[in-house]
Amino acid sequence: MPLAQIIGTGSYAPAQVITNHDLEKVVDTSDAWITERTGIKERRRAAPGEATSDMAVAAARKALEMAGVAPEDIDLIVVGTITPDMPMPSCAVLVQAKLGAKKAFAFDVAAACAGSVYALSVAEQFVRSGQAKRALVIGADLFTGLLNWKDRNTCVLFGDGAGAMVLAPAQEEGRGILSTHLRTDGTLAEILTVPAGGSREPLTEDNLREQRHKVVMNGREVFKCAVRELTGITLESLKVHGYTPQQVDYVIVHQANMRILEAVLQRIEIPIEKCWINLDKYGNTSAASVPIALDEAVRAGKIKRGDLVAIMAVGAGMAWGSAVVRW
Ligand code: ACO
Repeated sequence: MPLAQIIGTGSYAPAQVITNHDLEKVVDTSDAWITERTGIKERRRAAPGEATSDMAVAAARKALEMAGVAPEDIDLIVVGTITPDMPMPSCAVLVQAKLGAKKAFAFDVAAACAGSVYALSVAEQFVRSGQAKRALVIGADLFTGLLNWKDRNTCVLFGDGAGAMVLAPAQEEGRGILSTHLRTDGTLAEILTVPAGGSREPLTEDNLREQRHKVVMNGREVFKCAVRELTGITLESLKVHGYTPQQVDYVIVHQANMRILEAVLQRIEIPIEKCWINLDKYGNTSAASVPIALDEAVRAGKIKRGDLVAIMAVGAGMAWGSAVVRW
């Protein structure tokens, strides 16, 4: 069976820009602090009434256009998201309906910021097995809806957006997604969580007042885990194929924080020039982060046919993963 190949990418960011200076008016923070500690300068926010599926569809249309694939030819849609339009049904079914992808079966994957890498891993196995010929993989999150705008530890970090990839069986031997690698450590669940709004702690007047339906994070622990695990999984997944980091042509790293990104690249000994960076413009867009970065890098001509590309992401769970791709 041939490998699955990424034949199209697309991305979407809402128009509204929220700068660090805007946030100075909302919480006790400063542009200098945010820039120095994170590298983020601004982020996007979805318009009122704009839902995760709307952003996902906008990114998907661009990826389908690049791939030259019509919606009715898609067999599978996997959406990585933790902010679906509603608890039920999934975001993916709404995307299917809006695109008119009539023959596609569709479902969501919840792995927070690692969501698109998890979704990519699931979809590529369907394509490689022959169960799906054309698959649409989307990472989309409307994370600003999960933010407590009084919590400066979190509200400065995130933004909204969506990215998409179209997969098809590779036409040439040796090209395509060589492998994906997924790991989870649920004992770290408490370091990044939205405590209320699920079955354990249904919404009440009290927990709504306390903002327990918004994200709560132990930033230092997340930071340590992110650096440790992104480094480990990338080295491990390259080694599977006998590659050294020096052989990697380009890397796409989840855009959480410039310091995490620099620490990982330094440890795996890949120069920062080989990495797409857009967190200054978008902040952390959760599951959308990797496919937006990938799309921008592809469209900028940074990733070329035949390149060895390493993709990596980590998020709440903690959950992390990587993909090794021969473009
Ligand atoms: N503005 C000003 N001061 C702030 C802000 C802010 N926005 N946020 C925190 N501070 C303060 C803290 O209150 C603390 O003050 P104190 O010393 O008086 O208590 C001080 O700054 C230092 O806080 P630290 O938490 O030690 O700061 P640190 O250097 O660790 O940076 C940060 C915090 C940016 C959150 C960092 O820990 C981080 O990036 N962690 C990773 C988090 C992340 O990326 N999460 C995304 C989701 S998961 C993922 O994508 C991997």
